[in-house]
Amino acid sequence: MKIDDLGHPGQLVDPETGLVSRRIFTDPEIHRLELTRVFARSWLFVGHDSELPKAGDYLRRVMGDDPVILARGQDGALRVFLNACPHRGALLCRADAGNAMGYVCPYHGWSFDNTGQLTAMADAPEAYKGRVDLATFNLVQARVGVHAGLIFATFDPQAPSLDEYLGDARWYIDMLFARTPGGAQALGAPIRWVAQKNWKYGAVNFAADGPHALKTHGPITRKIAGGMPLEVLRDLAIEGPAVRAGNGHGCIFVDLPPGMPPWVGFHPDMVALYQKTLTPGQLQLKSKLFNKVMTIFPNLSWVHFPITFRPDQPPVNFFNVRVWQPTGPDRTEIWNWFFADREAPDEYKQASLQAGIRTFTAAGTFDQDDAEAWAAIDAGSRGTIGRERMSSFQMILASQDERIADFPGPGEAYRSTYSEMSEFGLLLRWRELMAG
Ligand code: FES
Ligand SMILES: [Fe+2]
Repeated sequence: MKIDDLGHPGQLVDPETGLVSRRIFTDPEIHRLELTRVFARSWLFVGHDSELPKAGDYLRRVMGDDPVILARGQDGALRVFLNACPHRGALLCRADAGNAMGYVCPYHGWSFDNTGQLTAMADAPEAYKGRVDLATFNLVQARVGVHAGLIFATFDPQAPSLDEYLGDARWYIDMLFARTPGGAQALGAPIRWVAQKNWKYGAVNFAADGPHALKTHGPITRKIAGGMPLEVLRDLAIEGPAVRAGNGHGCIFVDLPPGMPPWVGFHPDMVALYQKTLTPGQLQLKSKLFNKVMTIFPNLSWVHFPITFRPDQPPVNFFNVRVWQPTGPDRTEIWNWFFADREAPDEYKQASLQAGIRTFTAAGTFDQDDAEAWAAIDAGSRGTIGRERMSSFQMILASQDERIADFPGPGEAYRSTYSEMSEFGLLLRWRELMAG
């Protein structure tokens, strides 16, 4: 099927005008097609290596709409299996996480070791009388790739290597996940909740949407910056760069408010490690930037900035990582982790986690703001008339010629987070894949 066969007059994502059909956020047919064309062909984030340190550790995860098991085998290797018994397809692993030598299907009792090999079939082997190759009953495996501890997987044998897929985005990933010799560490299991919205609202917003920060999050944004007038913050956001890092990956950066010292929110011992580990360009950006937000196409995002809720305590950085799991055209399950540098002191990790939980979880200040806005978009875009309207990303028309020539990072950097350039870049990649 061609994307234009879906019945919309014209293009769903129009690179010339910056207009996007609201059907891409609401239409069940488009949702089904993107599971095949986008999710089944992309490298998807399934976990972090700090979540399964020991041989035998496993985690139950999701890729697109498929349940999978992320496992570290007895041989120490990471594998991703379709979480479906090769016999009749029953869900094999039911626990969210654990440590096991293997998995036993509850239906007919077939057993598999933690490298995916069929090891026992209860009474069945004789029944096949040697007519079936039992090796075809091993677990279905995805390709697995790891960068800076982030574990990705794809079921597409034609997909490029993970290195090629991430491309320039690796530089920005390393700035956060590989800034110390020990790298990053997940602070516990992901918190999960379901939101009334299409997954792309979150992915695009984190790719990222500068202007909404001061409106949707106005009161809390002013608070985190020490009560600074919103006009000052708006000027910072307008001047913050938006980066298209290739293949639909995108990020924005917002500079520190005036008067805030460099490295605000970081632990001083960690800063000394960053200075040994990062490149000069990464250090230059990292020391003076306030807010770092990114989406790795299609649905992995993070946000990182300093905050304090008490005037007598200095700000601390939280580091929130999340996946926007598509569970329907108008439903998203959010998988939400917090990270910290492995070498950071425990009390810093605890303070960072608390700052994150108060801001970016289902009950967090920022997520409550965004959840209302995204549910409102869904409500306004689903009707018979509403879904035929177009959403505007037309700031690109005024911004696409405003490249920053001397930006220290790779990719295409544009002058402003008020440009919609990095957000629209994600939708352009979506359009390419959806075209078949
Ligand atoms: S479905 Fe798993 S053993 Fe039959
Ligand atoms: Fe937001």
